[in-house]
Amino acid sequence: DRLIGKAPDLKGRTILITAGPTREPLDPVRFISNHSSGKMGYALARQATLRGAQVVLISGPTNIEPPVGLYKFIPVETALEMEKAVLDNFNQAQVVIKAAAVADFRPKKYNLGKIKKQDGGMVIELVKNPDILQELGQKKQQQVLVGFAAETDEPEKNAVDKLKRKNLDFIVLNDITQEGAGFGSDTNIVKIIYRDGRIEVLPRMLKRDVADAILDRVLPYLN
Ligand code: CTP
Ligand code: CA
Repeated sequence: DRLIGKAPDLKGRTILITAGPTREPLDPVRFISNHSSGKMGYALARQATLRGAQVVLISGPTNIEPPVGLYKFIPVETALEMEKAVLDNFNQAQVVIKAAAVADFRPKKYNLGKIKKQDGGMVIELVKNPDILQELGQKKQQQVLVGFAAETDEPEKNAVDKLKRKNLDFIVLNDITQEGAGFGSDTNIVKIIYRDGRIEVLPRMLKRDVADAILDRVLPYLN
């Protein structure tokens, strides 16, 4: 690996990373979810581990093997389970990177039995899930907080709004309309937006390299 021989610049740091989608069940056989593959979050967990960090990976369902050497791996299904796991581990972390694609809504009611089909259409009532990152932004003490934004329209404006609303140190913007960016891809095209309004444009890179670029940018916020 190209990181062998690199200084373990995250040694002694605890980094909490969330990855993957969440699943919001309707009944025992069905759920609402999204296209997140988990690749970006797992790449972050792997690179942070290789750089010496103690990594807590909280992950929704993915097809990826957890990286070797994690400090803790906490698999979750729903946004509410992810919220609990994140809050339970927040105080001991110096850095939180929220790469998970949390479902914004969940079905209001879970059906214990399988919902049977019927004539005509059907309406599913949804209720809002908590915004986990926004809660962390309110609670934050010394932590470095990094979020992601997946956007299709007015990406920079929306990302800046999220950066402020969630009280982040910086936000990684994914324009998911671009080829070679976002869901399922091994590469990503991102912009990094800082609190002072600075926008850094990165070229298309492997998610592993995007992960290292993000971790490089966390370093100056530590100490
Ligand atoms: N996020 C979160 N909890 C939620 C929703 C989002 O912690 N319930 C986090 C994501 O992990 C990501 C960031 O917030 O780091 C932005 O997620 P995104 O879906 O782009 O933004 P939202 O605030 O949910 O707004 P919208 O989906 O309407 O664009
Ligand atoms: Ca969302």
